[in-house]
Amino acid sequence: MKKAAALAAIDYVESGMIVGVGTGSTANHFIDALAGIKGKLDGTVASSVASADRLKGHGIPVLDLNQTGGLELYVDGADEATKYLHLIKGGGGALTREKIVAAASKKFVCIADDSKLVDRLGKFPLPVEVIPMAQSYVAREIVKLGGEPRLREGFTTDNGNIILDIHALDIINPVELETKLNQITGVVTNGLFAIRPADVLILGGAEGIKVLK
Ligand code: A5P
Repeated sequence: MKKAAALAAIDYVESGMIVGVGTGSTANHFIDALAGIKGKLDGTVASSVASADRLKGHGIPVLDLNQTGGLELYVDGADEATKYLHLIKGGGGALTREKIVAAASKKFVCIADDSKLVDRLGKFPLPVEVIPMAQSYVAREIVKLGGEPRLREGFTTDNGNIILDIHALDIINPVELETKLNQITGVVTNGLFAIRPADVLILGGAEGIKVLK
């Protein structure tokens, strides 16, 4: 189902594009499918070292976002999504670079299997990337907001930071929570994609593909 969603996203790739590429098992299907049309691309921008390595392994050029300017298209997976195209991302820990590439892209196409579609975000623990020395302070501030932060043990992000996963959240207003978390000093960013949601959500399911816009 992840692969079916990834293949459907290939339709959004046009000749001469530089495509933003996400991270995770669904994004990996997209990368593998991109290999089949790599002659059509001017290059890619990767949201993680892992995705950059996979792209390069297929002989697909990976460019620096500072050199490309804005992108037409970003394709990435999600851990949870709503019908409003608000997302939780960062299960793979790449949330900050994912958010940067999404922000710099005109169109964000999210690809997922339909188990990711939820009525309300928060069952999946919300990842927050934190500067290491701020871990305890940020954790205390998150508790004040009603969450239960847990350190992702043995994990360092591509940016050299830690991840706190926030459990026990029932996210009624994702835009408000995304803003509040980002205002805590020491937070690099959080895995809510609500201020800049997806533009298209492609869900792979038992009965085929469903597209929400
Ligand atoms: C990576 O940090 C995440 O945002 C992924 O996009 C998300 O975890 C989805 O991963 P899967 O495609 O592996 O389910």
